[in-house]
Amino acid sequence: MSNLILGIETSCDDTAIGIVDEHGNVISSVISSQIDIHNQFGGVYPEFAAREHILSIIPTIDETFKKSNIQLSDIKAIGVTRGPGLIGSLLVGINTAIGLGISWNKPVIGINHLRGHIRSADLEMKRVNYPATILLVSGGHTILAYMKSVTEIEILGSTKDDSVGETYDKVARMLDLGYPGGPIVDKLAKDGKATIPFPKPIINEGFDFSFSGLKSAVARYIEKNPDNICKNTIAASFVQSVLDVIITKSRKALLLNPSKSFIIVGGVAASPQIREQAQILCDELNVELCLPPLKWSTDNGAMIALATWDYIKYGIHKEPKVQLRLPLNEF
Ligand code: KG4
Ligand code: ZN
Repeated sequence: MSNLILGIETSCDDTAIGIVDEHGNVISSVISSQIDIHNQFGGVYPEFAAREHILSIIPTIDETFKKSNIQLSDIKAIGVTRGPGLIGSLLVGINTAIGLGISWNKPVIGINHLRGHIRSADLEMKRVNYPATILLVSGGHTILAYMKSVTEIEILGSTKDDSVGETYDKVARMLDLGYPGGPIVDKLAKDGKATIPFPKPIINEGFDFSFSGLKSAVARYIEKNPDNICKNTIAASFVQSVLDVIITKSRKALLLNPSKSFIIVGGVAASPQIREQAQILCDELNVELCLPPLKWSTDNGAMIALATWDYIKYGIHKEPKVQLRLPLNEF
């Protein structure tokens, strides 16, 4: 019986393939990372990302099938990220999915990458109960939203400039720490004291975010103190500012919108500091904290496959066509 979905994710710098059943069990998942290529640039170099996807996509799909002995006849449909993302990278995933769909005679559905992140919280086991408040913090996005159900999303706020992940990456670059910056900055912050009073932009103004002022403040501090730089102190102070902003706004959102679950997804949800502070907040407000296991926080194909099940269940058919900008509340 065909009861599995193949998910293809190539929106940024990971060639990620996953095969998932309708309950979110991950039957197979392979992620081909490009970190070594982009590390030298301190961020993702879009043209190189696309070229690398071309080289790795077929071998990664092959490996995903081989790992769990899955037959083509087990696959019901293919879900592929249609946006948001980098145009060259998206095109590789989409064109591959279309080609496979024709030769395998399987339907191909275009999936919103952000909906994939939302569904990562239910991979391997069901965790989320609705209504839920969701914080999506990734390299490309910072969004706070309220979900009455898996299909009804009200966006409360989003970033006006840099995303949280991008800010981590840029601070890491200023400190010569390599890419991706999040995990390295977090690690340094653990052994530092947050003694530098970096700004906490628009912390008390609504649900939108702004991180470019914080990024500039870190840059100015480094410029002004060239002989006296303690990377641990800078990292700890930076992380403290980010945490205060994120947790303050999340608390406000949870108080305003009665929620059974608080979901945090996206690459930055891998941050141990954010996980710890969010748990304290949820204990205080008596809300269930729903976090994807660490390996499903960053981009992966399994989350795209699980989101594809929603599209099928609710009869939402989106063509596999590139959509560079795609808000969270669209399919
Ligand atoms: O969701 P993701 O894999 O890709 C996008 O859709 O953007 O997120 C990548 C981002 C990067 O900016 C990376 O620095 C950040 O997630 N990140 C972290 C951690 N692990 C990854 N940020 C903070 N702490 C982490 N442990
Ligand atoms: Zn992502």
